Amino acid sequence: MLWTPPTNPAAARHGAAPADLAAASAVVDVGADAGATSRPLRILLLAHAFNSLTQRLHVALRAAGHQVSVELDIADAVTEEAVALADPDVLIAPFLKRRIPEAVWRQRVCLVVHPGPPGDRGPSALDWALLRQRPPPVAGPVAAAPDRPLGPDMAAPLSWGVTVLQATADFDAGRVWAWQAFAVRPEATKASLYRHEVVQAATRATLAALQRWRPGSLAPAALARPLAEPAQRTGWQPLVTRAMRQIDWARCTADTVLRLVRSADGAPGAAAQLLGQPVRLFDAQAATMAECAAARGAAAGSVLARRGPALLLRCADGPAGPGAVWIGQVRRDSAAAAASASTVAPLKLAATLAFAAEAAALPEWPVPLMRQAAAAATPQGGDLAGGAGAWDELHYSEFGPPRARVGWLEFNFHNGAMGERACRRLVEALRWARGRDTQVLVLAGGADFFSNGIHLHEIEHAASVAGDSAAEASLRAIEAIDDVALEILTLTDRLSVAALRGNAGAGGCFLALAADRVWAHEGVVLNPHYKNMGNLYGSEYWTYTLPRRIGAEAARALMQGRLPLGAAQAAAQGLIDDCFGADREAFEPQLAAAALALAGAPDWPARVQAKQAERAADEARRPLAAYRADELAQMRRNFFGFDPSYHVARHHFVHRKPHAWTPRHLATHRR
Ligand code: COA
Repeated sequence: MLWTPPTNPAAARHGAAPADLAAASAVVDVGADAGATSRPLRILLLAHAFNSLTQRLHVALRAAGHQVSVELDIADAVTEEAVALADPDVLIAPFLKRRIPEAVWRQRVCLVVHPGPPGDRGPSALDWALLRQRPPPVAGPVAAAPDRPLGPDMAAPLSWGVTVLQATADFDAGRVWAWQAFAVRPEATKASLYRHEVVQAATRATLAALQRWRPGSLAPAALARPLAEPAQRTGWQPLVTRAMRQIDWARCTADTVLRLVRSADGAPGAAAQLLGQPVRLFDAQAATMAECAAARGAAAGSVLARRGPALLLRCADGPAGPGAVWIGQVRRDSAAAAASASTVAPLKLAATLAFAAEAAALPEWPVPLMRQAAAAATPQGGDLAGGAGAWDELHYSEFGPPRARVGWLEFNFHNGAMGERACRRLVEALRWARGRDTQVLVLAGGADFFSNGIHLHEIEHAASVAGDSAAEASLRAIEAIDDVALEILTLTDRLSVAALRGNAGAGGCFLALAADRVWAHEGVVLNPHYKNMGNLYGSEYWTYTLPRRIGAEAARALMQGRLPLGAAQAAAQGLIDDCFGADREAFEPQLAAAALALAGAPDWPARVQAKQAERAADEARRPLAAYRADELAQMRRNFFGFDPSYHVARHHFVHRKPHAWTPRHLATHRR
């Protein structure tokens, strides 16, 4: 056993660090000795990509008063040049795939963020944390993997951590400056754990580590009391290989499939055969007992039904009976694609799109938007008809007394990407929700992302479909997301709240601004701009909603600045209305209470009246259709014009092409 599991699993589920590890980890108040400094520092962030953690640190370090610049890790000589130009007090590496050059770490304080507790080392830290959460229920391929067998003795690290350590010649082996524990959510994917718990813990540990910086020294200030470290150490853990996560439908129970896929989601996915093709699987969701029972008699690996983006696959029987799982996203296996003559690079796509012809022939098992209470679902078929436990990307619920009632609409589109299919479903859901007797509609988006705008992978895919093109697909996608924004803007008989439980980017940010109120928690990072995607002009009625909130001048600066914005800053600037709660767990109950208060406020009728009057006045001044037409005219130039920047940027983004240079708006040391 590597870690002592937390004594309170409920606390673990809700993100609280187990008491023993929380006590051991060093957070913001590190009690550094008198040699430490609290002056603002010059910080260079060195990262493989400007990813979610790097963005969050960019936001948090600037908010703490530090001067921050970014260099993307391209080559040793380029990094050395950047260090010479930036002359940083500290170099921080939140996300690297290569070593920091020795010439740099020998001269400067270089702090590496490792997503594991002290003593953990290696490139697959989070994968291992999730794979070992519980012992495999049956001997599956993970247990059989020759190079790293898993067994009950290695089970269950329900708590994990993030360490900030000094760069040395060896990976993850330097001196620990600070670390922070967190509890592993049992059903989280690797990417979700990274975006929430890791980002949160890393931000706290990095701020703590900086308190130990001393002018002119490579060593940290000593602590008033020594940094406690976990009693058990994992040591070096190898890369989790493809073979360790190969899914054999006949041998893997649903529990094993879910665990293997989640440990590899967002990358590289778990390897499997699907409809005769070698693929990588993502976005695996549990099937209900009724759905599993309906799969009885089907052959292992066969596909039984479709719902939204997902296909239902039969897997091995578990202790409770027949097994089945929903698979939402797939990518053709890169290794298999490379071995074939195909020139089309594999993309992560909805399973129903990647296997469109086969999916069309399958029965659809839809579930109602507002699913029944759990008690009403029966193993005999209640869940097939839509029990509360039935998975779908859309879900609606209601709470509150009559005349102070809140509707709560979640749209968990994978990665916050909204293609035509997703937008059409959301428009239908909004129209349905409109018919409900509620005073407030909360648009709760997805748990990981509120939204990231149009689905760029689907658009890229259209380029390889006969008779279609990326330009045409882009236009269709923008029209579809504009329809969603229009539904929200014209919902004038009640108040709407966009609740950002996760980050929002580009069109997804502006979709949120279509609501009357925009609320977020302190961990949310917004990217309220489009230009990073090949100078895209943008739509979603942003030319109406953004200046209305912050004025024309600030709107221009925000769009040109192309920087991530923390929710607290966004609230201070008036871009959003409020920011409360340290993270999603703290935010959700406060959000529900605030929505209830809004729905039951004595001045609710006056607020709705004022909203209707404002909308009518705005419409008379300039119709929404005119904003949309002007935005789309600009977008047509992006899609169909002579400048291919958007198509090039999208291609690079969806294929994860490494950066060749650091954009100047990030690399302030290069201006
Ligand atoms: N369409 C399709 N996939 C998208 C997406 C979009 N609009 N936005 C993000 N994703 C996917 C990424 O490909 C990635 O996939 P993975 O599961 O294979 O890793 C995943 O979502 C996470 O994105 P990533 O870029 O790693 O997240 P981040 O937190 O580091 O950065 C953003 C967030 C929003 C800054 C960045 O994802 C982005 O620029 N997205 C594009 C936004 C955009 O231009 N939309 C179109 C105009 S409306």
